[in-house]
Amino acid sequence: MLGLERLPDGAFAEVEVVIDGDAESLILYRDGDHVRAWLNICPHAGRRLDWAPGQFLKSKEGLLVCAAHGASFELAQGECVAGPCRGESLRTVVVNVRDGAVWLD
Ligand code: FES
Repeated sequence: MLGLERLPDGAFAEVEVVIDGDAESLILYRDGDHVRAWLNICPHAGRRLDWAPGQFLKSKEGLLVCAAHGASFELAQGECVAGPCRGESLRTVVVNVRDGAVWLD
C-alpha cells in the first residue's frame, strides 16, 4: 500500500484504497515501528481532514486537527479531544507493517 520510506516517524500520509468494494481515503500515521490508520472522514461533518491531499495539520500538542472546523484528535485511538465532535472517534482501519511497507490487514 505504501513504503515506509514515504512515511517518516511522526508523519501522516494519505492513501486511496478499496475496502469492501468502496474507494476510501485513509489517514496513515507512523509512530516509530507502528502505523495507525483511520478513514479520512471527520465524525463532525463527514469532511476529509486534510486541507489538500495528504496535507494534514498537527497541533503543537501533537494532535491531528481537522482542516474543516478544527476538531482535534489524539493519535493513540483517534478520539476527538477538542472541537465540535469531542468524544467521537475516527474509524480505525487495521493495517500491518511488513517487508518495509504498510498493508491493509
Ligand atoms: S468536518 Fe472536521 S471539524 Fe467539521
